[in-house]
Amino acid sequence: MSRDKSMKARAKSEFEAWAGTYDRSLLNRFLFQPSYRMFLEELLAWRGADSEPFDLLDIGCGTGTFNAMLAGSSLPARVVGLDYAEAMCHVAADKARQAGVADRLHYVNADSQHLPFADASFDVVTCSNSFHHYPHQQQVVHEMRRVLRPGGRLMLIDGFRDNIIGWVAFDVIIGHVEKEVFHAPWSKIHEYFTNAGFKNIRRRKFSFWMPGLLTVGVA
Ligand SMILES: C[S@@+](CC[C@H](N)C(=O)[O-])C[C@H]1O[C@@H](n2cnc3c(N)ncnc32)[C@H](O)[C@@H]1O
Repeated sequence: MSRDKSMKARAKSEFEAWAGTYDRSLLNRFLFQPSYRMFLEELLAWRGADSEPFDLLDIGCGTGTFNAMLAGSSLPARVVGLDYAEAMCHVAADKARQAGVADRLHYVNADSQHLPFADASFDVVTCSNSFHHYPHQQQVVHEMRRVLRPGGRLMLIDGFRDNIIGWVAFDVIIGHVEKEVFHAPWSKIHEYFTNAGFKNIRRRKFSFWMPGLLTVGVA
């Protein structure tokens, strides 16, 4: 099997199986929840509570916790969540119904490498803790850029592996557990964003023991 197919097949089977218990995992508390808070903080600082409605695409959305938080916040976001694992989309859609926000959230089962949307469809693209599963990361960043409107933002979060703690957490431990994954260093992520035409690229590191890296670029 090619690297492309085997990486995707592995990710799909891992997350189809994990969907039912994902929200109760320790990683959820120490890595995923802080990521959702980073996105909300960035969005509030950028769009403010009184802004015009905007369209957000969350790629590799998992169980949709961030999307449900966003739909329940004061931010007027219309949200589409996309995930390669069908079971994740089902859990996310159930969560939205239970939270009473299903009218503002839609879920699509698809691959980040081939986004099923027209050019310039969204104002924001978010992607957290999913990018290391993508065999063709540069191609995905080009796809993210393609679906963004001019002036829109890409907010990408993944494990920060440029210090010793991050290297042990992501390259050694998570790499051992998940096998075929690649946590790109900041230099590589910066290169992906630049090649795809993003401007004003900046980064924020957060959390000490499970450090995350948020990269933001303007389309
Ligand atoms: C660790 S979870 C992160 C979920 C969520 N964004 C979060 O931060 O909690 C990674 C997610 O990426 C999804 N994923 C992996 N490869 C993908 C691909 N090629 N296209 C879309 N989603 C993918 C998985 O199915 C899984 O739901």
